[in-house]
Amino acid sequence: MSDLSIDIKISKVSESKIQSVDFNNLTFGKVFTDHMFVCNFVDGAWQTPEIKPYQPLTIDPSARVFHYGQAVFEGMKAFKDADDQIWLFRPEDNFNRINKSSHRMAIPEFPKAYFFEGLTQLLRMESDWIQKGKGNSLYIRPFVIATEPAISASPSNSYKFMIICSPAQSYYAGEVKVLFAEQFSRAADGGVGYAKAAGNYGAQFYPTSLAHAKGYQQIIWTDANTHEYLEEAGTMNIFFRVGDTLLTAPTSDRILDGITRKSVIQLAEDNGITVEVRRVSVAEIKEAAKNGSLKEIFGAGTAAVINPIAGFEHAGDAFELPKLENSYASFFKEKLMNIQYNLSEDPHGWRYGV
Ligand code: COI
Repeated sequence: MSDLSIDIKISKVSESKIQSVDFNNLTFGKVFTDHMFVCNFVDGAWQTPEIKPYQPLTIDPSARVFHYGQAVFEGMKAFKDADDQIWLFRPEDNFNRINKSSHRMAIPEFPKAYFFEGLTQLLRMESDWIQKGKGNSLYIRPFVIATEPAISASPSNSYKFMIICSPAQSYYAGEVKVLFAEQFSRAADGGVGYAKAAGNYGAQFYPTSLAHAKGYQQIIWTDANTHEYLEEAGTMNIFFRVGDTLLTAPTSDRILDGITRKSVIQLAEDNGITVEVRRVSVAEIKEAAKNGSLKEIFGAGTAAVINPIAGFEHAGDAFELPKLENSYASFFKEKLMNIQYNLSEDPHGWRYGV
């Protein structure tokens, strides 16, 4: 890919809207920066990419994305250190994953040089939108949509690859309690659960709204065949601390190979915390909650970072989790953020300077 000449066409806004943004009161994903990256796939090739003012798109109503959900996305974050240097966290993994998702959805893969050059130029242009200080970041949303105006149910012959950016603080405001899924499923064997396919997320909205009505913010999805094993939370991978051991489900074609998930596993290993990557049953977690050995449940994801779970319910049994002084959740959050904000060593080379 490196032999591609990367000529990005750039047009800038005449005036930034940054002055109108209250960076201390951000709702996740509501405010977008001044510019966006767009690259069209037509006639069998990705065309010259553009960075231009953030604006609505004009897309034919018959475009396949609207009818068949042929769309994938990624979630990444940019951080700024005290010297105004911008950092990404393991961006190569996002690049590989969007192409893995695209492959599964019959979308042509995006060239690596375009991805990194587009991201770099866009982030440098939007640097003022990346606020310093732990907890502040710029959430980056690369995505691909099928744009061919045709409603036969087959892969599109045209696509848009785009990157939009949104200043972010926390994803979940307040306590997160979860329901363990008993009836609905997120993903099945041989399906698209491992991909960041748009429909994986849309399909969770209805069951999650039922959970909301019962006072739970999220569902922890269980395996579709038996509902006996805990898999992921949809916006996050999920970890259980039983005694001092960390448990998490192995990735599979049903579970997203989360970048925060694998970073937590690595950090646990680096810090002498035993991690068991294996199937985790609903029964063992309920039993551990009853006998007091379940100390923590937390989610791990790009948007959510590390999110402690305050309680859960399954089959009418509700459990509260203890509030720990020295939780693994806060330990991993601190370790991760110190790497992300260039406040500590980066032994695994996860930081990527922009
Ligand atoms: C992310 O953590 O970046 C995700 O993709 C989850 C999202 C649906 C907010």
